[in-house]
Amino acid sequence: MGTKYEQFHERSISDPEGFWGEQASLIDWHKPYGKVLDYSRPPFARWFVGGETNLCHNAVDRHLQDRPDQNALIFISTETDVERVYSFRELHAEVNRCAAAMQSLGVCKGDRVLIYMPMIAEACFAILACARIGAIHSVVFGGFASHSLASRIDDAKPKLVISADAGSRVGKVVPYKPLLDEAIRLSKFPPQKVILVDRGLVPDMTRVAGRDLDWAELRAQHMNAQVPCVWLESNEPSYILYTSGTTGKPKGVQRDVGGHAVALAASMKHIYCGNPGETYFSTSDIGWVVGHSYIIYGPLIAGMATIMYEGTPVRPDGGILWKIVEQYKVAVMFSAPTAIRVLKKQDPAFLKKYDLSSLKYLFLAGEPLDQPTAQWISEGLGRPIIDNYWQTETGWPILSNPMGVEDIARKFGSPGFAMYGYNLKLLHESTGEEVGTDEKGVVAILPPLPPGCMSTVWGDDERFVSTYFETIPGKLAYSTFDWGIRDKDGYYFILGRTDDVINVAGHRLGTREIEEAISSHAAIAEVAVIGVADQLKGQVPVAFAVLKDPSLIASGEARMKLEGEVMKTVDQQLGAIGRPARVHFVTLLPKTRSGKVLRRSIQAICEGRDPGDLTTIEDQSALQQVRDAVGASRS
Ligand code: PRX
Repeated sequence: MGTKYEQFHERSISDPEGFWGEQASLIDWHKPYGKVLDYSRPPFARWFVGGETNLCHNAVDRHLQDRPDQNALIFISTETDVERVYSFRELHAEVNRCAAAMQSLGVCKGDRVLIYMPMIAEACFAILACARIGAIHSVVFGGFASHSLASRIDDAKPKLVISADAGSRVGKVVPYKPLLDEAIRLSKFPPQKVILVDRGLVPDMTRVAGRDLDWAELRAQHMNAQVPCVWLESNEPSYILYTSGTTGKPKGVQRDVGGHAVALAASMKHIYCGNPGETYFSTSDIGWVVGHSYIIYGPLIAGMATIMYEGTPVRPDGGILWKIVEQYKVAVMFSAPTAIRVLKKQDPAFLKKYDLSSLKYLFLAGEPLDQPTAQWISEGLGRPIIDNYWQTETGWPILSNPMGVEDIARKFGSPGFAMYGYNLKLLHESTGEEVGTDEKGVVAILPPLPPGCMSTVWGDDERFVSTYFETIPGKLAYSTFDWGIRDKDGYYFILGRTDDVINVAGHRLGTREIEEAISSHAAIAEVAVIGVADQLKGQVPVAFAVLKDPSLIASGEARMKLEGEVMKTVDQQLGAIGRPARVHFVTLLPKTRSGKVLRRSIQAICEGRDPGDLTTIEDQSALQQVRDAVGASRS
């Protein structure tokens, strides 16, 4: 670690109040806070206690004075060939219209608003409008299907849902409204109102009278609305974002207001090096945490223009991302390793075709960055490629290169060092002691978690404590559920999850959720889903299913048909992102005598590795079936 950064980090741990008190001046406060940190109820940390602020004010209104006509939001859809640019003044007007429309429907401070939308500008307006009036947004990724959506509706109990007729992917219309209708039908707590953006992608979208309202009509009614920001105490909730874990029930990650704004502003300065007036381009989606932090809030709080892109990296051709960089003079770009692996298959000439002189850095996160991919893009762009590691729960990087403080030499395969504010430790899974150099341990954070990290699990403080802080023996430590090592020079390396979460193309999925979806198929008695290494996507889900009636797959044809049906069930319940790449049928699953499925062994066999110690297995023939199934699918 560089000396300058070492001191910076050290101070953030030894004097958190002094350190974060300074960072707090990066945002506007309506009312100053009384205390920087209240840690009287570990592990719950309350930052900037008593201070009042508003995320929308900091992201939009604050810039009206200095940069009203500067680009704020650039919406580009290569799917529908639409490109629209909004200045801060125009963004402010749109957000006010949406906020007024929501208020006219009775949405107040503390009410939840669920946003189930494609990557369109209106999604950004809706998110910021919630922040403006103190409503709590819960954005659900558009790739999730009815069942997932319904469980999120039931947990958040939104008063209002904002959605659209459809998204579009690779030129194909992906209807949203039928999935939403089905989710509301399944839900125990249906929303009172639904606002729909009609993009004209689906002819004759059905509307439920009295419930479904048209975005454009509401907007027209509130053209000149001026809705004052509702000032919120720093620790009030700003949003809920559901994420997967070990159980089938996604956790609602709850974030605050003040700490969230300060943490993002600080990260734009110390990590991402984004300056007012520059353009930030994150290729993520608003349904994921990267979209929340680094499409919407982070860049706008920093006074940057942000790009919302609906499209893929290869359509109309493999140069589209670079074309956007040239056209909007992108200074900072953020993407996922999978996107780069996709581009690597394209003509390398695309990297030379456009003027990329505006680009300072490319940040990659969300999944392990393999060396060949890092090297390819680093050589192709001739710019620093910065791997950064973090989670939905933390909201901003845990590990990175602190470019804004000190540019420290990078090592391929390492996302760098603990970021300021994180008292990071590698702990032994069973003793809870710190492991030594080059020894594998659980990546853990000693609380208090820094500002911007989750404040609790929505509606379930106990689950927050038991899930995250009670898994490491003898220590109150936050577990990331990732394995890591640190080398002699202090560089961290992430080795994969300690739990059953898998990472498909940078998308975090719970194998348990996929298993639940598969189990809903009438023919399935039992199923185990594991993540298997994949060259392009990092990992893909693979299922091993036991049938209630094995004679159902008497022929190869019947087997294929059933496999297709199971995949379709996952598409319908969870969404196509959870669809297993293969469904293997076996007559029993490898289990311990106590009934625990030996997932690691199944995974090892699928990846051609040694399955490890198998003495605890109840029936050895189960493993042979896995071997046979995998062998048959390879040959
Ligand atoms: O396993 C780690 C992996 O993705 C998980 C978090 O995913 P999510 O909550 O969707 O947040 C993504 C925010 C960027 C982590 O627990 N992960 C994330 N970044 C990296 C990574 N694994 C290796 N290297 C990374 N840079």
